Amino acid sequence: MLIPDITIAVDGFSSTGKSTFARLIAKHFDFLYLDSGAMYRGVTLFAQEQGLIAPDNTVDPSLEKALETLDLHFEAGTVLHMGERNIEKLIRTMEVSSQVSPIAAVPYVRRYVDGRLHAFAASGRVVMDGRDIGTTVFPNAEIKVFLTARPEVRAQRRFDELAAKGENPVFEEVMKNLQERDYIDSHRETSPLRRAEDAFVLDNSEMGLTEETAWAEGLIRGKFGLLDAPEEGYAG
Ligand code: DC
Repeated sequence: MLIPDITIAVDGFSSTGKSTFARLIAKHFDFLYLDSGAMYRGVTLFAQEQGLIAPDNTVDPSLEKALETLDLHFEAGTVLHMGERNIEKLIRTMEVSSQVSPIAAVPYVRRYVDGRLHAFAASGRVVMDGRDIGTTVFPNAEIKVFLTARPEVRAQRRFDELAAKGENPVFEEVMKNLQERDYIDSHRETSPLRRAEDAFVLDNSEMGLTEETAWAEGLIRGKFGLLDAPEEGYAG
């Protein structure tokens, strides 16, 4: 389906399948996929490695200056690198998950990430997922989606993901981490997680990938008036 170069924003709570959904759109419609959460995770790993975040989540203010030297970028489209180093696996651990929300609440961290995201998205035709993409990063995105799912479904998804990666997750801890992140992400002062007024809401608790693809395709076709588009060569 031929659709113009637009920006699609996908926001929602933790583990609602935002990245799966956004990747699916990217593949289906040939868009660049950008995972903004990975950037916050990358900054968290950096702060941890530099010893700039304490166990009680206090962030050392020297992180602001240190960010000037931090080169976070995606290679092969979606693989996050810190300089030369592939950090894709490191940023998905519980250790990083447990401190990412406090880091993401720091205004200069958000400025750093927003700056990088805008640079990556400069070429257009982008689908980006996160918490504030439709409200702050790309408030003019042509299509906005807000994903939600029941907490126990989300915790189970995250649990399965961690287990598949060989970690040894405890369900109650995964659930607690999700709830804590949802709370911090929705209550922080700078760009809190909330649904943009013009976002389409999808509760995918009971949905599989095929249904999600169909829903996304319907949405995008509808947006561009392509629902009843005649076949090529149709003379009218
Ligand atoms: O999508 P994720 O779970 O990988 O995101 C990790 C954290 O990053 C999440 O708890 C909140 C933060 N985040 C954010 O504050 N704003 C975004 N646009 C994306 C993620």
